[in-house]
Amino acid sequence: MANEQLGHVLVVDDNLVNRLTLARSLEQQGHSVSLAENGQQALDMVRAMSFDVVLLDILMPEIDGFEVLTRMKADQDLRDIPVIVISALDDIESAVRCIEMGAEDYLPKPFDPVLLRARLRASLQKKRLRDLEVAYLRQEVMLRQNEKLATLGKLSAGLAHELNNPAAAAERSADQLRTTVAQLQETQLRLGALGLSGAQHETLTQLDRTAQQRAAHPADIGSITQSDRADKLERWLEEQGVAEAWEHAPTFADMGYEIGDLVALQQIFFTQHLPIVIVWLSQTYTVYSLLEEIAQETGRMTELVKALKTYTYLDRAPIQSVDVHEGLDSTLVMLRSKLKDRITVRREYTPNLPRIEAYASELNQVWTNLIDNATDAVEGKGEIIVRTRQEGECVVVDVEDNGPGIPELVQAQVFDPFFTTKPPGEGSGLGLNISHNIIVQKHGGTIALTSQPGKTRFEVRLPLKLATEERALD
Ligand SMILES: Nc1ncnc2c1ncn2[C@@H]1O[C@H](COP(=O)(O)OP(=O)(O)OP(=O)(O)O)[C@@H](O)[C@H]1O
Ligand SMILES: [Mg+2]
Repeated sequence: MANEQLGHVLVVDDNLVNRLTLARSLEQQGHSVSLAENGQQALDMVRAMSFDVVLLDILMPEIDGFEVLTRMKADQDLRDIPVIVISALDDIESAVRCIEMGAEDYLPKPFDPVLLRARLRASLQKKRLRDLEVAYLRQEVMLRQNEKLATLGKLSAGLAHELNNPAAAAERSADQLRTTVAQLQETQLRLGALGLSGAQHETLTQLDRTAQQRAAHPADIGSITQSDRADKLERWLEEQGVAEAWEHAPTFADMGYEIGDLVALQQIFFTQHLPIVIVWLSQTYTVYSLLEEIAQETGRMTELVKALKTYTYLDRAPIQSVDVHEGLDSTLVMLRSKLKDRITVRREYTPNLPRIEAYASELNQVWTNLIDNATDAVEGKGEIIVRTRQEGECVVVDVEDNGPGIPELVQAQVFDPFFTTKPPGEGSGLGLNISHNIIVQKHGGTIALTSQPGKTRFEVRLPLKLATEERALD
């Protein structure tokens, strides 16, 4: 305990007797002491060595105590070293001025060893607490950084999967499209050689338009009806001498065609031409539906990338005017593959919820952690409710699940760092701690937990506006 109050002290005084008196007294108390005889020397020494306290005389030639103090307070690395100014009793005003400039305390001359001991002890204690605080903050920043990575890591596996499915599907469709277009070109050449009439050409144009429309809005008939129709169509097509009828029949069924629609074509085209027309129509429809599929799959990819951009708020300032619903929705998109069909998410959003001033991507980390926890908690099929509302000058977001709940004894610990009930490798126990820090420290909000079996709710309350000190955090 005694050791905790000992430190490395720099004594700055141009008067040799004062320096030596102070040094002796300090050494007797067990401190280690260095001496500087002017302001410049003092500044050089604090930059070169580490000190726990500086005892600083005010009146010195050239660089005086005020100047040393000013320079130390302006320097990020020196700012936190406590300075105790040494002042003559008749110059209390200068001491007060130094304290206003950031000095920790003052020591009147002539020196009283008891007072010296008390003042030093207080300063050293404060310094130690401040050092601890700095170390704690550093550690926390590191943890937060890790958690940022962990959250992204958690999401990236799911996201890769979510992106890969439409990408693979689009690629398959593009492959098929290449083959079908080549076949269609060939059929078109054959059609061209038939010497069709103007009316027949007109019909082809109409058929092309129908194929395009139906591909965009496929008939919504049950799969049983569809395979039933396809069977009938296949038999009819075979009778008409259409090659590979088995391939074209399902296409016409897809298109919503029945035998009657094809029979109608017999009125317009010669029997010997009909098979070519039919194959042409089938291929035309296939091309349009493949294009439709590609558009849909790439659309899904675009939607995901958009959600990812909203989620991370990449390339945007950290503090945003945030639409909470947008953040929640993009988080849900990001977690989609984890939720799958197992979890139903019910969104009970209050319409016209005001935007809030917030650290946008940090908030999304909070939603991710809460929804992720809820998903882990629910066994088998379950439900998560995401609810929003305005209460006075706050926006409130609830994340509720119907999982087994958190035992009362444990409830007080869930926000502690490293508290987890998950097997190693599955949970770091940081999610809620980080979420708590983001909500409470960065936003001046609150996060509260209520839990019973079948109903666990985390309630996050965020002020509409950030306070000045919270804005200064980034
Ligand atoms: N909705 C919930 N239902 C039941 N238990 C929960 C719920 N949310 C959190 N918990 C409990 O709180 C613990 C701590 O949660 P926290 O999010 O901090 O860490 P974790 O989920 O275990 O790990 P990490 O989030 O770092 O991957 C969890 O291990 C779990 O026991
Ligand atoms: Mg968690």
